[in-house]
Amino acid sequence: MPADRLPTGIASVDRLLGGGLETDAVTELYGEGGSGKTLFCLDVAARTARASRWVLYVDTEGVSLERLRAIAGPDLDRLLGHLLVSAPHDLAEQGRAVATACALTRGGRRDVGLVVLDSATNFYRLALSGPDEDDAREALVLQVADLVATARRRGVAVLLTNQVWRNPKDGALEPLGGSFLNHAAKTILRFDRRTGPVRRVVLVKHRARPEGTAEFRITAGGLESVGPG
Ligand code: GTP
Ligand code: MG
Repeated sequence: MPADRLPTGIASVDRLLGGGLETDAVTELYGEGGSGKTLFCLDVAARTARASRWVLYVDTEGVSLERLRAIAGPDLDRLLGHLLVSAPHDLAEQGRAVATACALTRGGRRDVGLVVLDSATNFYRLALSGPDEDDAREALVLQVADLVATARRRGVAVLLTNQVWRNPKDGALEPLGGSFLNHAAKTILRFDRRTGPVRRVVLVKHRARPEGTAEFRITAGGLESVGPG
């Protein structure tokens, strides 16, 4: 595995990504509700913290401690010792949480392996089509720019999730956040629901890998690779 990758621990996804998440760039996950974006973030966060590397987790949805407990098993205490969760309630608080995560990462005191922003567009979405839309877009652009710069400077994987809207022209599900977000993220993965607990991951964009797909299964104890290996 290249040194510049953070393994997700899900073999099919790591194969798709050439070893794992890039550690000097932002990876964006988008997909409809229930497609597994949050569970994926929690899974990678747990794996990273279990390896005694810090995870800075900005959670706009209310992370399920129950899920984290199930994924962590007996390692919960060790894992919580390397996990810093902030739970903003609006876009301004989200901005402060992202700034703090970036400052802690750049400060270099902790060995930060992963920064998560789940979801980047939860509060932004609420401002769309309202009087604050331009301000909200600008705030989001600044947050993502900070994350991009931090990833690049400190060699840290950044994972952000994005919600979708249905384009009335062709009915396709498209990521929110405009073209800025899609340029800022060097890797983009789309999560699709399949039958039952299986989810498909589509590699939409990557600097060094061909397009492709992978599958995982949601289980009580975390995400499991589907397919060979
Ligand atoms: P949004 O935040 O709404 O955009 O969704 P998301 O993409 O973040 O989805 P999330 O990661 O929260 O996935 C939740 C999905 O996992 C739901 O479809 C749940 O039914 C499913 N799920 C949660 N726990 C389990 C479990 O223990 N077993 C199985 N099979 N499915 C589960
Ligand atoms: Mg979610």
